Amino acid sequence: MEFTLNRLSALILNHVFTSNSLDQTESVGQEIASLLNFPKCVYLGGEMGAGKTTLAKSIIHGLGYEGAVTSPTYNLIQEYPVKGGVIYHMDLYRLDDPGELEFLALDDLWGEEAIFLIEWAERGRGLLRAADILISISKINRDNEFLREISLKKFK
Ligand SMILES: Nc1ncnc2c1ncn2[C@@H]1O[C@H](COP(=O)(O)OP(=O)(O)OP(=O)(O)O)[C@@H](O)[C@H]1O
Ligand SMILES: [Mg+2]
Repeated sequence: MEFTLNRLSALILNHVFTSNSLDQTESVGQEIASLLNFPKCVYLGGEMGAGKTTLAKSIIHGLGYEGAVTSPTYNLIQEYPVKGGVIYHMDLYRLDDPGELEFLALDDLWGEEAIFLIEWAERGRGLLRAADILISISKINRDNEFLREISLKKFK
């Protein structure tokens, strides 16, 4: 992924999970949540329908948010207060130009008490923090609609 090529930071964890059901993706999300402390910027990659939002929901619940989590496709960003800070879940699919992000004043949101989970981060190129964690989800078998590979790279 091009983000990794731009980084000078060291890769400190590289792990591939396999999920064969929504329940397993939920467990992977819980496990990923246990790897997260504040602050973090996480990019969630993968094609449309791969499961980025599904995984983000599990991570947000894994971090202790008990309410409903909805996809931020239309409003670009949704925030979830949890113990220790705020999770910002973003989906930049509908962004035509990264400059459209300026009205969100992201500079005021990045901070010690923020975790960002960002879908379609490539569309915000130049206006986002570099990822501390890259997650990529893919369907690995056309004949099995539930099978997903979820790869995680964590940088120092
Ligand atoms: N093992 C699995 N893990 C995650 N999602 C799964 C799995 N099996 C089937 N699905 C289904 O795949 C779909 C994933 O949709 P989701 O909205 O999470 O994708 P997305 O990557 O966020 O897409 P988009 O790019 O449109 O935002 C859901 O309908 C979900 O029920
Ligand atoms: Mg999504």
